[in-house]
Amino acid sequence: MTQLAAALGTISPKAIAALHQQEAEAFLARRPQSCALFEQAQAHLPGGVPMHWMRDWGTPVPLVIDSARGITLTDIDGNHYRDFCLGDTGAMFGHSPAPVQRVLRDHAGDGLTAMLPGADAAVVAAHLAERFGLPYWQVTATATDANRALLRWARAIATLTDAKKDKVLVFNGCYHGTVEETMVQLHDGRTVNRPGLIGQIFNLSDSTVAIEFNDRAALSAALARGDIVVLLAEPVMTNCGMVLPDEGYWAFAQAECKKYGVLLAIDETHCISSGWAGYTGTHQLQPDFLVLGKPIAGGLCAAVYGFTAEVFAAMNRVRDQREPGHSGMGTTLAANLLTLRAMRAMLSDVMSHEAYAHMLPLAEYLADGLRALFGRHQLPWSIAQVGARCEWIFAPTVPRTGAEALAREDDHDLGAALHLALLNRGVLVTPFHHMCLVSPQTQRADIDALLNALDDCLLLLKHLSQPAG
Ligand SMILES: Cc1ncc(COP(=O)(O)O)c(C=O)c1O
Repeated sequence: MTQLAAALGTISPKAIAALHQQEAEAFLARRPQSCALFEQAQAHLPGGVPMHWMRDWGTPVPLVIDSARGITLTDIDGNHYRDFCLGDTGAMFGHSPAPVQRVLRDHAGDGLTAMLPGADAAVVAAHLAERFGLPYWQVTATATDANRALLRWARAIATLTDAKKDKVLVFNGCYHGTVEETMVQLHDGRTVNRPGLIGQIFNLSDSTVAIEFNDRAALSAALARGDIVVLLAEPVMTNCGMVLPDEGYWAFAQAECKKYGVLLAIDETHCISSGWAGYTGTHQLQPDFLVLGKPIAGGLCAAVYGFTAEVFAAMNRVRDQREPGHSGMGTTLAANLLTLRAMRAMLSDVMSHEAYAHMLPLAEYLADGLRALFGRHQLPWSIAQVGARCEWIFAPTVPRTGAEALAREDDHDLGAALHLALLNRGVLVTPFHHMCLVSPQTQRADIDALLNALDDCLLLLKHLSQPAG
């Protein structure tokens, strides 16, 4: 029996297929406008959506949003949803936070972008320095771009002292946005391009080495190669399912990076769920670079990367020594006037200590509720959590490495059926990895509604799994 079959217990594949079919029919019946719009949209939008992965939700037609307020989504057919996906973190502090609305209302007429800084930039940087303990900051349009930029800087810094160092180290199963260097995975112990990359003509192992998370020997061996410039990592892996660090892993990894003179870049884009200063602040990490994107401007396109005084000094040496010409970094709309205003409002009024004091215990309540629910249904499913970010896994233990997490991605049919069934019951969970975010707007009643809806779906699956007659 496979691990998945064991984890599903009495839930049969036939029941999963039956649930999916009945939920798809119910979904379509209650969304006539969405169906009509889908027909229309396909004339000029491939798949009827403006961004291709918006079809990856597994709904029969796209869920088309009319409004998103707090954690309530309303589709164009008037169906309401409690949103636990929250734009996969972009709206982690609730949709359209009031302070950002005020910025838009009061300042939309004061200029949107000028390729020049407004007065908010210095305030934002000072706030970030206080929050994350890194003195210097730059602003980009997306977290992808922030990661790209820091990799460029890290390599440039390495050439100051050691031209042989040019490789990026990442963890198997990582995701840091569509950064070319990170689109790799381990295959039989070798770093190879991830499968499925569209139009990728480069051998990415020329620039990158992948190792397993939590594998101390592999980390030491990689660093000892002598060609690694920077380790780019999420402190908790969140993009192949959640993979938590072993006790003491980060203390070890940091010390090893220092020993081998390798820069450490921590990507907090998802792990900002850990607390006010992300995982870094909560667990006293001391990275050379830190990246934060997604929620930082409340859902407007923006991200930041911070760095130490030593990195800044090295950047200046790079600047002094380089030939005149284009840096090859930066985009026109990055750090524009409006997003800096929004960022200032988010940092000072929304991503507050009070917000986390609400979110973190409520996420515990959700995790406990899920544990109790799966226990009642005698399902050996587990919960992984990093602060306000919580997900369930169709397996009795949480994975320790990316390879383990990726090997478990065989729960697609059950996941798809459950997500659709939850949507029909007014609950939206992130389609990848059954991930739920608890925002400052989320209330206990919302979590009870999620637990009740999931309970209902599991009862139905049990019922559908019983032999007919
Ligand atoms: C950890 C992490 N870093 C960076 C990114 C890239 O963010 P964006 O797509 O906004 O550039 C993501 C996106 O999911 C992410 O999960």
